[in-house]
Amino acid sequence: MNILVLGGGGREHAICWAVKKSSKCKSLFCIPGNAGISEIANCKNLDLNKKNELIRFCKEEKIDLVIIGPEQFLEEGLSDYIRSKGIRVFGPSKKASMLETSKAFAKRFLTKNKIKTAKYREFKTFDSALEYLSTTKYPIVIKADGLAAGKGVIICKTKNEAISGLNIIMKKKKFGSAGKKVIIEEYLSGFEVSYFAFFDKNSFTKLGYALDHKRAFNNDKGPNTGGMGCFSPTKKMTKDIENQIEKKILIPTSIGLKKDNLIYRGILFFGLMITPKGPYVIEYNVRFGDPECQTLLRNLQTDILKIIDYNLKDKLSDITIRNKKQSVVCVVVASKGYPGNYRKNKILKNISKAQSIKGVVVFHAGTSLEKNKIISSGGRVLSVTAQANSIINARKIAYKAIALIDWKEGFFREDIGQKNI
Ligand SMILES: Nc1ncnc2c1ncn2[C@@H]1O[C@H](COP(=O)(O)OP(=O)(O)O)[C@@H](O)[C@H]1O
Ligand SMILES: [Mg+2]
Repeated sequence: MNILVLGGGGREHAICWAVKKSSKCKSLFCIPGNAGISEIANCKNLDLNKKNELIRFCKEEKIDLVIIGPEQFLEEGLSDYIRSKGIRVFGPSKKASMLETSKAFAKRFLTKNKIKTAKYREFKTFDSALEYLSTTKYPIVIKADGLAAGKGVIICKTKNEAISGLNIIMKKKKFGSAGKKVIIEEYLSGFEVSYFAFFDKNSFTKLGYALDHKRAFNNDKGPNTGGMGCFSPTKKMTKDIENQIEKKILIPTSIGLKKDNLIYRGILFFGLMITPKGPYVIEYNVRFGDPECQTLLRNLQTDILKIIDYNLKDKLSDITIRNKKQSVVCVVVASKGYPGNYRKNKILKNISKAQSIKGVVVFHAGTSLEKNKIISSGGRVLSVTAQANSIINARKIAYKAIALIDWKEGFFREDIGQKNI
């Protein structure tokens, strides 16, 4: 098969890496890709706003399957468009993607299907939300309804914090039209897990889970980021919790999708809070997480193209996914200053030295090539993944690899996988 992957982050590098291992892969393209992806795929710089050019490219290169990485493309309905031109595409429809692109839609879906989620109210006006803030208990969580690049959620310990949060979203419109509506919900405590399963029209099959580190600095200090690292597995995830996730979350989600005729074909990411009262759904994401994807695909044994083929044919009930029983730690190396302002175009050296350590694979995110040199071109720049027989050993290897990389403009968290193992 000729495959095209859309996106250029660590997630897409990991997808390309997994696709490249498949015997079914004849040629691999990526738009736009990055320096690391260009080592295994043919990277093209096409403007994805020009959809007809994308289709022309797919026809020219006889692309059999398009795999969509980022959520923005799904929100725009790119998967529907590509599908309408007769090309197979892995990525849910615009309608089904509302599970991620509208938090109000997701909350209604969860409630309707009796899936545990934080108690909530939906507000369409500033005044009605403000009035509610005088009646509720604290802490509470305020969320912009739409996509806000992981920044539209404000956890408020007091009423004053909540008023200022509401102002930011609804009055100052920091997240634009994503903040037209807000969700105000109960605060849940527990530990967070990113849980993944492939879903089709009739059924689903589980991929696995990872624990993410969202804050920029050690000990969960600093601002929220796209993700500074993650690991899998954890002893905290008992068989009992896994069973509850399947019975009370995955199965009712599958039934609910069917009932609403939301034909979902793709990977579904459950942001879960494991509370003393069991697992609650915080949110759905309609694509792989980054860096969870890098972590999970390291352990995936089943051919990813076979899974996707079964998924698109609605035959997931006929396939069980096999994973290596190994521990994986993924540490993100980012440009100093991220998630705020940072410098670009700095040369990175010795990535191949880091890669030569047994168990290590370095996925690229914000990198590009200039005169055959790898330079930084984004906030999150590398995802260093290490696989070993325990989290402790995987951590050791990951950090040993990072120490070999020569890039003074970079920073990373030193505590990925240190807690919760
Ligand atoms: N009800 C809640 N209780 C406690 N923490 C929450 C709650 N909702 C969200 N959070 C925290 O905020 C983060 C972001 O919220 P989420 O709904 O996943 O939005 P997004 O990923 O779109 O920014 C979560 O990963 C979690 O840490
Ligand atoms: Mg989230």
